[in-house]
Amino acid sequence: MRLSRAVLTAAVASLAAVAVPGSAVAAPAVTERSVTDVVPAPVSAKADPKGGFRLTSSTVISADRGAGQVADYLRGLLRPATGYPLPVVPHAAGLPAISLKLGHDTRVGTEGYELKVARDGVTLKANTADGLFEGVQSLRQLLPSAIDAKHVQHRTWTVAGGTILDYPRFAERGAMLDVARHFFRPDQVKLYIDQVAQYKVNTLHLHLADDQGWRIEIKSWPKLATVGGKTAVDGDPGGYYTQAQYQDIVAYAASRHITVIPEIDMPGHTNAAQSTYAELNCDGKAVPPRTDTEVGYSSLCISSPITYRFVEDVVRELAAITPGPYLHIGGDEAHATPPADYLTFERKVQPIVAEYGKKITGWHEIAKSSPPVSAIPQYWDFGGDNPDVAAAAARGNKILMSPANHAYLDMKYTESTKLGQDWAGLVEVRDAYDWDPATLVTGVGENQVAGVEAPLWTETIRTSDDIEYMAFPRLPGIAELGWSPKASHNWDAYRTRLAKQAPRWTTQGISFYRSPQVDWK
Ligand code: ACM
Repeated sequence: MRLSRAVLTAAVASLAAVAVPGSAVAAPAVTERSVTDVVPAPVSAKADPKGGFRLTSSTVISADRGAGQVADYLRGLLRPATGYPLPVVPHAAGLPAISLKLGHDTRVGTEGYELKVARDGVTLKANTADGLFEGVQSLRQLLPSAIDAKHVQHRTWTVAGGTILDYPRFAERGAMLDVARHFFRPDQVKLYIDQVAQYKVNTLHLHLADDQGWRIEIKSWPKLATVGGKTAVDGDPGGYYTQAQYQDIVAYAASRHITVIPEIDMPGHTNAAQSTYAELNCDGKAVPPRTDTEVGYSSLCISSPITYRFVEDVVRELAAITPGPYLHIGGDEAHATPPADYLTFERKVQPIVAEYGKKITGWHEIAKSSPPVSAIPQYWDFGGDNPDVAAAAARGNKILMSPANHAYLDMKYTESTKLGQDWAGLVEVRDAYDWDPATLVTGVGENQVAGVEAPLWTETIRTSDDIEYMAFPRLPGIAELGWSPKASHNWDAYRTRLAKQAPRWTTQGISFYRSPQVDWK
């Protein structure tokens, strides 16, 4: 039988549609995306434009023992938009596969990975599940942005070809959410966790108590949450997390390989507690609740034994529901606490944290108290000289970098930004990215830097849209400073890579600031 040309063409097309990648029929899967576009920039990336891997309905995810959680997470990312089954299996058994492998590679440490994308498969190798998780974040960016759609998209799915070898510059890449000035529900916190995890953020600092509200249930002082949790800035509705809700957030973060650091700010920023419990005031009288945004007026009563019973109860309960190694004890802007009292307070409180098995982190003012070398002061000033912080670094403390004039996500981008504050200046996208954590503070070099954190204070922030607008696109820049090698730092190259992230944010429903500094296209 002679086949007509039309029938032949149709037959070839249907063959191609079911063709397995790497077979003779499949055309090279050339993509516009490249391994060299990933944010944060990898340590090394070598593109192979003809080596793309086509995801199909027959692709499997093969996972070594210990890689199952990351494999399930990856499957959860890829299934909604592809509609493919993508079963997680112990061995690929000759099927086209994304393979997650655990091994021993001295080059990549505890969070690094090696990713190889070729026409016949994708191989992701790491030493730990954390490393596989970070590799998956790179892998996502090699697929079309439609991969983040919530419903099936009928199209081809090609992973850009090439090889990435990658590991972080600093151990800690953090985001902070102030849930005290305005309260954010657990689902809103989880949404933010997912949004920041894609840029390899590994720490979520929750600012759980401040003058305007107390947000965590403490069973031995129940009114902290039920009364002290009622208020928020400007008289907006408050709220608090039960311990079970907090533990659920912590577990969700852990599933995204993010460690939660809870903060109880003290001895200042304590009005919500002191308006709830009269005995926390030196005169035994409860102060009125406050919902304005003044700072520096409140102080726990340093001379009162009840203060330390309170602190111990809070630390004990918080430590018991926090698997991570650090508790954040605040310590900033204690302007209503005389300097000698501040030191007295710190020297009583820091050992309590140790007693309950936790290490300390706190705002950089705690450096004055010569905390144990395991403590991490969090620097929030504008850079330059700070003798207390430099002395702590010289003693062996690592310093976390959150300079307000670069890393504070609540600063306005420009004068016309409706949300946010400007006391640390205007922070455009370039300001957030264009600084070096290892030269910011005199006497705090590369080896004394714990990492970077992008705090989001929420005096003016009320909704998830508000969070997103302030975090995107600045947070990816801070995350890149924490992850990528210093040698890769280059604003022009970064802004080009950043622009390519925008379609992903659009698909994910992230409302971001279209900075004129970036050519969004
Ligand atoms: C701070 O901004 N007071 C840490």
